[in-house]
Parts: sequence; structure tokens; C-alpha cells
Amino acid sequence: MGPARDAGAPLLELRGITKCFGRLTANDDISLRVSRGEVVGLLGENGAGKSTLMNVLSGLIQPDQGDISLTGKAVSFASPRDAVAAGIGMVHQHFMLVPTLSVIENIALGDRSLRLFPLDLSGIRDRLAKVSNQVGLEVDPDATVGRLGIGEQQRVEIARVLCHDARILILDEPTAVLTPEESTQLFEAVRSMAAAGTSVILISHKLDDIFGICSRVAVLRQGRKVLDAPLDETDRDALVHAMVGDTVSAPHGERVSPPGPPIVTVKDLRLKRDNGATLIDDLNVEVRAGEILGVAGIEGNGQRELAECIAGLRRPDAGEISYDGEPIYGSMTPRRLRQMGLRHITEDRHGTGILPDQPLSENHLLGHIRNPRFNRRSWLQRHAAKEATASIIDQYDVRAAGADAPMGSLSGGNQQKAVLGRELADGIRFLIAAHPTRGLDIRTIAFIQRQLLELRDAGVGILLISSDLNEIWRLSDTILVFGGGNAFGPVSAETTSLPEVGAWMAGHQ
Ligand SMILES: Nc1ncnc2c1ncn2[C@@H]1O[C@H](COP(=O)(O)OP(=O)(O)OP(=O)(O)O)[C@@H](O)[C@H]1O
Ligand SMILES: [Mg+2]
Repeated sequence: MGPARDAGAPLLELRGITKCFGRLTANDDISLRVSRGEVVGLLGENGAGKSTLMNVLSGLIQPDQGDISLTGKAVSFASPRDAVAAGIGMVHQHFMLVPTLSVIENIALGDRSLRLFPLDLSGIRDRLAKVSNQVGLEVDPDATVGRLGIGEQQRVEIARVLCHDARILILDEPTAVLTPEESTQLFEAVRSMAAAGTSVILISHKLDDIFGICSRVAVLRQGRKVLDAPLDETDRDALVHAMVGDTVSAPHGERVSPPGPPIVTVKDLRLKRDNGATLIDDLNVEVRAGEILGVAGIEGNGQRELAECIAGLRRPDAGEISYDGEPIYGSMTPRRLRQMGLRHITEDRHGTGILPDQPLSENHLLGHIRNPRFNRRSWLQRHAAKEATASIIDQYDVRAAGADAPMGSLSGGNQQKAVLGRELADGIRFLIAAHPTRGLDIRTIAFIQRQLLELRDAGVGILLISSDLNEIWRLSDTILVFGGGNAFGPVSAETTSLPEVGAWMAGHQ
């Protein structure tokens, strides 16, 4: 370090960062200090300005006001490259990997030290092996990224940042997409990084994450920093209050009327992985009108495949699924199912659910293109779509400039609310909901959970897939547990205990 270094200065200091988008002030005079090896949690509701602040720090956007210094020296980042060169690496809320390239090629992208003629990846390969070893992040350098699960893709993103010698690692809602096991592994990795002197800024909506690994926490609310304290000087209530200015109570699931006839019936279902291994053998289950069937289990045990089968997107290896008594395979297309009231909140909302450059209203049309309300003899009713979108914005409290705002200008959580609003609107009879509250703030989670219970009470059948056992527990009437190449259940939620479900998830009978 040069003589300009001030020995007392923190590793990183943000001072007075202000960033506006049009009339909206996303960051309002925010200051933040981070010391070497410190793990700082950043909390706040959907749209509070967390990603914006970290995008400023990682050079992706330029602040309108304010400055950044590293070890006491002023720095400015015109691009992410500058930030990377200064040792700041960010793993974004929505991954930025190229799916058709291999892990090692993705890591090599943007690496200036790389020799291109002839292309030599061996240096990067060695570095990758070293960092993944150091922090215990397992990645296969030659796997094609598009084929990896979300947890694995995240490990690639982190490994990429570490390969570029990050001193400050920013993780934007890393656990939103992880299984509890993967989260535990990630936290282990974060702890060893911090012990080795890397500072970490962790954005999360989960207080368990914050209390699990952070030593300090800052809370943003409507673009302002409203709390900044060492973890042992605050508690859950104080953090919730700082985030939402209120308390939030979880909804509970007392039903008002008994379930009706089955909507979806699954008989003798067998599902295999692409490589031929058995995922589910001989599953029999039905979901009735006015019932929530919760599917618990570690992700990757066939939940997604089951959802795809019911949505008509994948053919089972054996067995039969029917919708309203009609077999899905042979007679029904995904479009017909949609017309019959089937809605699908997919787990990868960003990959399959939205068009980021298009306005919210066009994104709404995307899901209702054959609905006569929006499509009269092939004339798209854009005005009706705008009205419907405006009402979703209102009902779901989507923080957006209006129905014309491009989807991509919304914060991550608000994009999700818009997709949820679209799927839960108009003519719904059966809902496949994969991780419907992932990435949402606590107030919105409670709202969505209440919506699901209301739909149930209105006679909608719901297949709820979630890796959050508490969510399954709170909402489901019957529970199915996927684990270790098998499905346990269905069992009634009333006669089963939480530890039993946990044991089945781990594959014990
Ligand atoms: N490129 C952009 N153009 C216009 N508005 C934007 C843009 N990026 C962010 N915003 C707005 O700035 C505000 C803060 O967004 P930001 O993404 O920082 O929220 P967040 O705290 O990360 O929320 P979440 O938990 O939902 O991810 C939101 O109202 C968002 O709509
Ligand atoms: Mg965000």
C-alpha cells in the first residue's frame, strides 16, 4: 500500500451515495463502512434500494452523488471492470453466466490476463482449483453452465469472483435460490473467506441468514439507511420494525369449507432423470378443489419434473396424470390446460416468466394471450391489459412507475410480484406454485401466503412446491415429501409432525 493509506481507515467506505431513476430516488444519501474480514448484512423490503447500492459499488451504475474510498483512498468506477480491478466482486441476484459455455470458459470471460492466441485456460483452471479448494466450493470446470442447477451456478459465480482476487465480495440474495443444505455450505464458505480477510456484503430477506453469519447489519428503507448496528446490539424485532415500520404476522391456515372433487389425479407415476436414474417410482396422489398439497423436499428430487408433467410440459416415463378426469397426455396441450384454468408459477421466473425490456402490460399479455378479455378475434386488447396491470400493481403493491414501466426496471422482488399477480388473475382453477415466496420480503411473503389460502378457500386446487418447510407446514392440507429417489405420503398435515417430515426429507423412513 502507498503512503496515502490511512491506517485507521476502514477497508471500504461509501459516503453519501445518492442515485435517482427519473423521479424515483433509489438511494438517498447512504453511507456504509466495511472493515477487512467483516460480514455485513444488508436488509430491506423489495425495492428498498439494496441492489442499486451494490450496483454502484460494483461499477455497474454510476451514482448521482457521493463517493467511495478503499483503505482511505478515493476511487471511482466507470465500469464493473474497474471495480473488479480494485478487488470488488459481485454475485448478482439474477446470474450473469452464459449458459452455453462451460464453467471454465465463463470464468475466463472478462479476464484480462488471459492469453487468447493460443487460448490458454490452464492458469484459470489452476486458480479455480485453488479457490474452490480453499473455501470448499465444489465446481466441475468442464460442465456446461446451462445444465447446472441453480445452486451450482451460484457456486460458479462465486468462484469466478474469487478467481479475480476479490477483497470485497457482494452477494445479492444468495440464499433465495438455495436449499437449506446449499445455504449451509455457502455459509461455511463465507466464514472461511472472512477468516482469510475477505469482506462480504450479504443482501438477504432472511433474518436467519443475517444472524447466522453477519457481524453487522444495515437496513435500508425507501432508499434511506435507517439502521446500522453490530449484530449483538440489535434483535429480530428491531430489524423487522426497521424494515417495514410495523410488525408482520404470519397467516394461518384454518379452512372454511371441506375440499371438493379431485382436479388433478396422478396414477402410478414414474419419472426418470435425463441420465436414466429413477427420480420417482410409483407415485399416486390427487389434488382436490379447495386443497393445498404441499411438496416438501430438497430441490432436485423430482419436484420440478412433477410440476412439468402436470403442466403438460413433460411426458412421464410411466403412469398417468389427468386434469378434470381427462388424461393430460394424448389429449391436452399446455395451452388447453391453461384455458382450463391451470396456472404455473415456475421456479425460474427470470428465465421463463418475463420479458425484461417490455412494459409490465405486455408481460401481462404474455400470460393471457388467448384470454378473450385481452384477445378479441386476434386483436390484442392492450388497453384491457393496461387496466389489468394497473390493478395488479395496486393489489400486489408492485413498486413500479406504472403499467408502461419496463419489467427490467423493477427490483427483483417487485418483478416477482408482477409475475405472481399475472398468474393468479383471471379464471384460475388449479395452481402449480414453485417456491412462490422466494426472494420476497417478509411483508410480501405474508401477503402471498394469504392469497394462496384465499384461493384455496375459493375452491382452487394448489400444488405448492417449496423448500421452506415452515411454509409447507403452515399452508398445506396434505403433504408429500420427496427425498432420496422416493416420495413419502401423501400424509395429512394434521396427523404428521414437523420432525417426521424433516426425517423423510433426509431419506429416512
Ligand atoms: N434501471 C432502473 N430503472 C428504473 N428504476 C430502477 C432501476 N433499477 C432499480 N430501479 C428502482 O429503484 C428502486 C430500488 O430497486 P432495487 O433493485 O435497488 O431494490 P432492492 O432493495 O434490491 O429490492 P429487491 O429485494 O426486490 O431485490 C426500485 O423502486 C426499482 O424499481
Ligand atoms: Mg435486489
